[in-house]
Amino acid sequence: GSTLQAAASGSGRYFGTAIAASRLSDGTYSGIANREFNMITAENEMKADATEPNQNQFNFTNGDRILSWAQSNGKRVRGHALAWYSQQPGWMQNMSGSSLRSAMLNHVTQVAGHYKGKIYAWDVVNEAFADGSSGARRDSNLQRTGNDWIEAAFKAARSADSGAKLCYNDYNTDNWSDAKTQAVYTMVKDFKSRGVPIDCVGFQSHFNSQSPVPSNYQTTLQNFANLGVDVQITELDIEGSGSSQASSYQRVVQACLAVSRCTGITVWGVRDSDSWRSSGTPLLFDGSGNKKAAYTSVLNALNAG
Ligand code: G3I
Repeated sequence: GSTLQAAASGSGRYFGTAIAASRLSDGTYSGIANREFNMITAENEMKADATEPNQNQFNFTNGDRILSWAQSNGKRVRGHALAWYSQQPGWMQNMSGSSLRSAMLNHVTQVAGHYKGKIYAWDVVNEAFADGSSGARRDSNLQRTGNDWIEAAFKAARSADSGAKLCYNDYNTDNWSDAKTQAVYTMVKDFKSRGVPIDCVGFQSHFNSQSPVPSNYQTTLQNFANLGVDVQITELDIEGSGSSQASSYQRVVQACLAVSRCTGITVWGVRDSDSWRSSGTPLLFDGSGNKKAAYTSVLNALNAG
């Protein structure tokens, strides 16, 4: 294939990007996005602060703009994210205990219900584990409602949209040796053994010099897949430039292609200038929309698979 989406389709996978609704009117941006990608994640527009700004008053305007752009261009959508410690609306940040638990479950039910039948996979719970060596859950108002908040969210999502794949999504879970990776693995294994509805694990894969692509990345993806879930690379970006960046991207693509249950890769933005990172050049297109060396290495790796 001569585009990322065509090349990924050769092995039955998708290649996606995060999209910001506010950038869709930029023709260079939407032109590249339409040409290269066939899975779309709303970068911010389906998060709780956007979709439920006041309790029980839902606003799907910008999420729907992204959904309808994707649908009208024949693309599928990953939903991001139903339950997360961050990007909570102010009213939710101030809640705790059983009222927060109910509000969170209502949020999951209403948002997944609004998008029922239209989402390929939901990031049901995002970033619930702590960084570092503890292997513990991340402290948050949601975690303080009880350790079972994650499974409660997955059950509510399944009830609201039985057709969407339900994912747990996190970062710093790429190195098989890390305590955080092991802790997420243990949770997924437990969920599978007890019949908690989980279908996939998302690896955000935000890499930089402090946190490079680990040598055991493919092992991590394979070990999770062996639990009976799909794995997806959900927010890929890699700081750097030139051939070193290109070879890191190539290794990520090769790792996914080597794991049959790695169903697709999403990069977290289109051009370097669209990245959430305030500086740096972590994406596949430069600020003018030109293909970088990293683009070519990803395309070639996809075509080789
Ligand atoms: O839209 C407002 C604008 O009106 C206002 O003037 C401006 C002033 O701060 O803020 C704008 O909102 C910002 C929004 O991005 C849109 O640009 C928020 O402040 C800013 O916090 C928000 O950042 C997003 C971040 O998540 C929030 O946590 C990034 O765009 C988004 O790329 C990033 O994505 C996360 C994933 O959801 C989860 N994994 C990590 C990833 C990278 O941090």
